[in-house]
Amino acid sequence: MKKILVTGGLGFIGSHTVVELQNEGFDVVIIDDLSNSSIDVLEGIVSITGKSPIFERLDLKEKLSVEQFFMKHKDIVGVIHFAASKAVGESVEKPLDYYENNLNTLIYMLKEVLNLNTSNFIFSSSCTVYGQAEQMPITENAPVQPAESPYGNTKQIGEEIIRDTCKVKHELNAIALRYFNPIGAHESGKIGELPIGIPQNLVPFITQTGAGLRDCLSVFGNDYPTDDGTCIRDYIHVVDLAKAHVVALMRLLDQKNISNFETFNIGTGVGSSVLEVIASFERVSGKSLNYKFAPRREGDVISAYANTEKANTVLGWKAMSNLDDAMRSAWNWEKNIRNI
Ligand code: WQD
Repeated sequence: MKKILVTGGLGFIGSHTVVELQNEGFDVVIIDDLSNSSIDVLEGIVSITGKSPIFERLDLKEKLSVEQFFMKHKDIVGVIHFAASKAVGESVEKPLDYYENNLNTLIYMLKEVLNLNTSNFIFSSSCTVYGQAEQMPITENAPVQPAESPYGNTKQIGEEIIRDTCKVKHELNAIALRYFNPIGAHESGKIGELPIGIPQNLVPFITQTGAGLRDCLSVFGNDYPTDDGTCIRDYIHVVDLAKAHVVALMRLLDQKNISNFETFNIGTGVGSSVLEVIASFERVSGKSLNYKFAPRREGDVISAYANTEKANTVLGWKAMSNLDDAMRSAWNWEKNIRNI
């Protein structure tokens, strides 16, 4: 069976992608440093698929550890690289930690991938590379704008590192997937989003408020130039996003890629405001959510949702779940982990 390395494979998107890879018959090796995930996630994966991925707890900042890992796994045919720090606010406080963790690890990973027999690499990028795009929906040709945070900058620089390497190393085949806003959880309720401390992202804060862990959701700004005054985002079910990684990997394994560095926006193509997300929660849960309006949050863009034309027609992938489906799975997960 084909062996795939998933770095950050015990994280939110990583764990869902491991499940979908196993469903497609791949052998999976996970590297995770457990800095933002729990070993319990491994149990959740196995309980869903019945298959045990190989797991190695490694800090990818340690170059020697990375080299030693690849000495043991020369039969890897593809790498999906999720491992990175991803908290926008924290990145502003600790820029050097973010540049070190997100970029040094990418460079060490790429150097080893180039030594494999086949060098297929899927990079976890983000719609933050667009900043506040002029035009909605956002296409892959939209100009990359100055990043709003060191986190967003590491995604932009990461893409440039891969692009420049692909220019001279034609044996490297890479795809950058630019995620919009991943939400929800596997239908089994056995894996999902596990924010550490107070959730920075909207949907886990909503479900924790619904579960009584948080008293009240603050809506960051209701004076934006949108229909209801709140920001608009493209919320995509994490399982749809996970499946996009498998499709992208197969594209490289089957040598269907048109160039050796491609980028795809991975979203639903539908923009939803914060108030519409709250309404979705209330619909699927039957509960009324306690929220209040608060000042705008630094760094938020007004609106961002994907033009999915290229992903649908070139990559051959399309999101199958809508906002209510994703929110229902997020609420199911929250109820499972809180035993309510
Ligand atoms: C969505 C909307 C907030 C919390 C970020 C990163 C992105 C990716 C996903 C890593 C905004 C509003 C939020 C709250 C609120 N992260 N909000 N009250 O900022 O679009 O994207 O997370 O890959 O790269 O940029 O997601 O969920 O934080 O915010 O009103 O308590 O919800 O202002 O309008 P965001 P988010």
